[in-house]
Amino acid sequence: MVSVSSVDNVGLNTQGKIQQVTILGATGTIGTQTLDVISQHPDRFGVFALTASTSVQGLFDLCVKYKPLYAVMLSPTAASALEAQLKNAGIATTVLQGEDALSQVASHPDVDVVMAAIVGAAGLHPAMAAAKTGKRILLANKETLVMAGSLFMQAVIDGGATLLPIDSEHNAIFQVMPYQRTRILADMGVKRILLTASGGPFRNATIEQLRNVTRAQALNHPNWVMGPKITIDSATMMNKGLEVIEAHWLFNATSSQIEVVVHPQSVIHSMVEYNDGSVLAQLGNPDMRTPIAYGLGYPDRLVSGVSSLDLLKIGRLDFCAPDQNMFPCLRLAYEALDAGGTAPAILNAANEVAVEAFLADQIKFMQIPALIESVLSTSDIEAVTSIPQLVDVDAVARRVARDWLTASIDTH
Ligand SMILES: NC(=O)c1ccc[n+]([C@@H]2O[C@H](COP(=O)([O-])OP(=O)(O)OC[C@H]3O[C@@H](n4cnc5c(N)ncnc54)[C@H](OP(=O)(O)O)[C@@H]3O)[C@@H](O)[C@H]2O)c1
Repeated sequence: MVSVSSVDNVGLNTQGKIQQVTILGATGTIGTQTLDVISQHPDRFGVFALTASTSVQGLFDLCVKYKPLYAVMLSPTAASALEAQLKNAGIATTVLQGEDALSQVASHPDVDVVMAAIVGAAGLHPAMAAAKTGKRILLANKETLVMAGSLFMQAVIDGGATLLPIDSEHNAIFQVMPYQRTRILADMGVKRILLTASGGPFRNATIEQLRNVTRAQALNHPNWVMGPKITIDSATMMNKGLEVIEAHWLFNATSSQIEVVVHPQSVIHSMVEYNDGSVLAQLGNPDMRTPIAYGLGYPDRLVSGVSSLDLLKIGRLDFCAPDQNMFPCLRLAYEALDAGGTAPAILNAANEVAVEAFLADQIKFMQIPALIESVLSTSDIEAVTSIPQLVDVDAVARRVARDWLTASIDTH
């Protein structure tokens, strides 16, 4: 198995040249925080392209402020509307439309850095395009690795890309574990990875309370401001499950080497334990601009705008084990990782359908894991061979999930 990352050439091309950045998912929480960090370093970064799905006003405002060469909208009507607004405002940004355009701006020869911050499986193709063309990829879109970890990691190596994890946990591990892509953890003296989890808004809830949580309660994360999909994933702890799979691919770690530790303050962003008993941790305020700045500047440390960590004010750091009976999504993710092949892609597709249905008030909170478990248990798991195969697997799993939804809505 290959592991992260062509870190070997990181930073060598940063001297003396403004880095051109494409931000996939620019209107999202990660996208806007990336722009916030970039705007603090106009001498180092230029904005090449910004993309969104349907948020015309959001992307228009960003184009006015950052004047990218290209703006991409997924939807054709949104693209026409954006083009008209930009023309009226006298902004020279060229508007492109559709999925292929996302990959074009991720792989354009003039682009140095790609922030992969589209939410969900939709982020896979442009991330692959960036990998194949040797970009510095700041990977926030964990679903890419969950769906297609082996193919994506191979594309990173074959394309000579540089992969820097942006998920705060994986960024923390990257900071405390100077890994090399051909080595396994044991050879580096690593005993295990301790992936911290806030526990989400329902850490102390009873199973009865969990059955009746509302959409608004689930969207109210105690520590992080994030998009709706990842916020629900945090509440079910599927987010941590996806991160376990992500850590497997990034760090060449087996599932038994990745342990989840609930840490409600979200100050320690993850830890690595070494054979000699040392445990190295990365700490900071829960603010994504820290890992974003780390990815943008590596190996330099850039000012990010994040305030200093005040340990005296925080006072204490707590830890406990996750309860996999209360949060079955975490167990399901470990099981999918151990099953291997297409199982994680099926898990991911079923989860995306379940989260959408929960956000649309079609199912209850505890039906999210029930739906995913049902789809996993009725699907054939195959060895991963190609991206088109995974696209098919994703589509079939979504169909099975929607059938489950129809049946469950009919019976309630
Ligand atoms: N937020 C965090 O703190 C955080 C932390 C770690 C990892 N991540 C990961 O980063 C990714 C982005 O998360 P987020 O919280 O920033 O999400 P978000 O706020 O929901 O933003 C998602 C972005 O993706 C665009 N988008 C949505 N569907 C798309 C599609 N089908 N095709 C193309 N673009 C699409 C959205 O455009 P519109 O605005 O037009 O919908 C928006 O720009 C996720 O994979 C998440 O797991 C996030």
